Amino acid sequence: MISFRWAGVALALWGASSAMAAPAHTVTYDRYSLIVDGKPMYLWSGSFHYWRLPSPDLWLDVLQKMKAAGFNAVEIYFDWGYHSPRRGVYDFSGIRDVDRLLDMARDVGIYVIARPGPYINAETDAGGFPGWLVTTAGKPRSTSPEYTAAYREWMTQIDRIIARHQVTDGRGTVLLYQVENELYDESADTRRYMQDLEDKARADGITVPLTGNHNGNFVQGLGATDIPGHDSYPLDFDCTRPERWNAIYDFSAERRELTRTPLFFPEYQGGAFDVWGGPGYAACRALTGPAFERVFYESVMAAGSTMQNFYMTYGGINWGWLSSPGVYTSYDYGAAITASRQLTPKYDQQKLIGYMTRAVAPLARTDAIGTSVPDNRRLQVTARINPDDGTRFYFLRHAEAQDTSDDATHLKIVLNDRGETTIPEQPGTTIHIAGRDAKVLLADYRFGKQSLAYSTSELLTQLRLGTRDLAVFYGRHGEDGETVLRYPSEPKTRVLQGKVTTHWDAATHSLRLNYRHDGLARVAIDQGDTSLLLLVGDNEAAIRFWQLDTVDGPVLVRGPYLVRGAVRSGDTIALTGDTDQAGEVELFGLPDTRHVSWNGVPVDTVTTASASLLAHVDGPAPVSLPRLENWRVSDGAPEIAPTFDDSGWLTTDRTSSPNPYWNHRLPILDSDAYGFHHGNVWYRGHFRATGKEIGIRLSANMGVHLGNHGIFTAWLNGHFLGNNPSGAQQFAIDPAWLKKGGDNVTAVLVDNHGHLQEEHNGAFREPRGLLSATFANAATDIQWKIQGNLGGENLPDPMRGPFNAGGLYGERMGWQMPGFADAKWETTTLPHATDKPGVDWYRTTFRLDLPAGQDVPIALRIHDLASHHYRAIVFINGWQIGRYISDVGPQTDFELPSGLLNPHGNNTIAIAAWSTAHDGGLGEVSLVLQGNYRTSLVPNPPPFASDRLPATDLPDQGRHD
Ligand code: GAL
Repeated sequence: MISFRWAGVALALWGASSAMAAPAHTVTYDRYSLIVDGKPMYLWSGSFHYWRLPSPDLWLDVLQKMKAAGFNAVEIYFDWGYHSPRRGVYDFSGIRDVDRLLDMARDVGIYVIARPGPYINAETDAGGFPGWLVTTAGKPRSTSPEYTAAYREWMTQIDRIIARHQVTDGRGTVLLYQVENELYDESADTRRYMQDLEDKARADGITVPLTGNHNGNFVQGLGATDIPGHDSYPLDFDCTRPERWNAIYDFSAERRELTRTPLFFPEYQGGAFDVWGGPGYAACRALTGPAFERVFYESVMAAGSTMQNFYMTYGGINWGWLSSPGVYTSYDYGAAITASRQLTPKYDQQKLIGYMTRAVAPLARTDAIGTSVPDNRRLQVTARINPDDGTRFYFLRHAEAQDTSDDATHLKIVLNDRGETTIPEQPGTTIHIAGRDAKVLLADYRFGKQSLAYSTSELLTQLRLGTRDLAVFYGRHGEDGETVLRYPSEPKTRVLQGKVTTHWDAATHSLRLNYRHDGLARVAIDQGDTSLLLLVGDNEAAIRFWQLDTVDGPVLVRGPYLVRGAVRSGDTIALTGDTDQAGEVELFGLPDTRHVSWNGVPVDTVTTASASLLAHVDGPAPVSLPRLENWRVSDGAPEIAPTFDDSGWLTTDRTSSPNPYWNHRLPILDSDAYGFHHGNVWYRGHFRATGKEIGIRLSANMGVHLGNHGIFTAWLNGHFLGNNPSGAQQFAIDPAWLKKGGDNVTAVLVDNHGHLQEEHNGAFREPRGLLSATFANAATDIQWKIQGNLGGENLPDPMRGPFNAGGLYGERMGWQMPGFADAKWETTTLPHATDKPGVDWYRTTFRLDLPAGQDVPIALRIHDLASHHYRAIVFINGWQIGRYISDVGPQTDFELPSGLLNPHGNNTIAIAAWSTAHDGGLGEVSLVLQGNYRTSLVPNPPPFASDRLPATDLPDQGRHD
């Protein structure tokens, strides 16, 4: 373990070499692995989207949690549209401060795979293209001059920031840079486009290797990336049957074909996105649970990959209007870390493998070797060897990955001093592989001063503490385990805890230990000047270990929910972390460590027989949440009334569009053409009635993908016509509603579910909003006015940004903001039913006084029946953090990220409930405690957020260009 310092911050990166004299590092690669400063490294990485967590202090939380689980890298998409509300305008401040994000990654000591697009997909609006790009010409993701000019704006801005943080300059931890995302055609133009992007990145100062996520494309020739990669989602995205597994695809052929690069997975399935009306993220987490992680991730390792990134590790939330059509507010993804930042059994499992990839350096360079088949033919074993030091790896699982039978076997492995050897050797014991389990076993592996012949337990980690070695092995509870170590002569063995038998074989110089995995066993083994503390746990015991790097070397901690950091000063180790209950903290520190502090407070310790320091730490104080009461309500759709003054609104006067995908019907009603790219949009159509209008046919597109869940509602002279999803619908007009010869008004409210993701066909430019309106039985002309979010592309609230607010009346008037005075609104209670289609706004405040030093994830829950028809938009302190559709679901709980939430003061909830039929309203609304931790994390409220919209005498307005 070598460390380097920068800007006064001690960094410890596995595989990075000392850079105190010359801070720049080299990043190269060969057909085995990435090589940093000459050292091969195993990349174990997870995806995280900062733009799905609008609270920068919580970025640190996620990065620390990833690092603590043994991830040495984080893969980050940078979302163009999130930073650019308007052509030429780029915002990298506040929640968009990616400089700060990359500094945090540096301080945490985690490498970054930067993925700036320009196209990112990611189930986000237009796949990351900005709203303003929708109305431009030029084929997307091509060399078209219009598109090129547009993306070069973004690349210039984002490359400048990424370039400041590269490992290669010693100024940060950006290790790799991905070019574009999932381009599956290698046409001459696409190749040229890729090459243009690569040239641009290099010209902008990007010096780290360029990578691809194009499923084996762009390997050679024009546009080739340095390290091409595959993405793989073996269980795909249908979470409705979580027990369903697909077969494992064997990537060894791909591995063999690569002659100059490692086998790289920029995206391997870490969970799955869920859709409107879907089964919910618990099901996605079950589908892609710990068993899936173990079996599938190890199968990729068995094929020889040394670069694995998991999509997603923390999914987060599609707050505001960030989602693309089809997906809802939560992007939890069933990932290892929940959207509320809590650790799951998937996290534990990733930690078990991740720690091994870090501890066992020979894993970064291996070749496939043949091996004898297991005596139990339901099982399959694959073997690999490190050509330099002879470490062998045996990957064991069921031949059919889906197999749920419990099986036992013996294995024939090769040991360099004994040749083929059948293990386990202890009579009456076996190697067990339960249904859907897998194991990676080591043989001929040296660490510290120890020589492991083999183990039927898996290695969690090993580290050297001064003059002593420490290793942690683990296995499933109740299963047999056998570990054999070599010594020149019989060592002194002391079983400190648990039941372990030892057997010395002088002929082979081997010490054999046999045990059942049950809790934690401890054995001290001393021979000559070598000393080993061997810890053998079941999985439950193993996941309680945390390995941390200090500038003087690694330390190991056992016990708490999370350990974030360890800093050594003199004879004290200062630990920081989180507890979910009171319990033990045990430190295996450097030999001269005498004192321990936990979250800044010295703790009493006793020295154990294992020469560790044992302390007790407190859990969190209990928390209770207030009931949400004292609601106020206001009508929020004055636009329905024929008398509403829309004179400040834009007229839909455009007759042509640079967007080649507009539907060629006049007038152009497409909301994007008027600068309204996100959220709800109102249309008001004025017409002089002839009296013959017996019906009106309205056609609209709110975004259809993975379901058709956008909706519009329409009124005529204040009378409700009805609702419809994307498509066309004729609504009957009662002649009594019409003012013959006078001004009549059709008001239409549309719900923009976002722009489609893009392939190569311009789909992201598909028009949104109303497309056409014609009368049945009459050719009456309609003059339309349009109003979306206040200011259109000129944001009144740039800190909350382009996705936060749409075009509801209340949003335009700032009713979502904490500073809005609602005292004149009527009081009400929830649930509240209404038979009046339209929009009602509900507001209340609540006070929190959460215990200091506690991380308390809180959600807002809406509880109602699917037989009610409304969609609610939820704001906390002015931030839109949820969209609820009572008759579609599935999401009922909406995370209120701390930082947006004030834990020690007043908070304002505003909910706009749009009743889309005669049985709307708003259900019960409550606060839900998702967890409670005592922590060293200190989330601060964003100091940059305003509490009201800026005072403005602007009329409702849109784009003015
Ligand atoms: C990948 C894509 C990601 C995301 C993922 C599914 O193929 O690169 O951006 O869309 O699929 O969640």
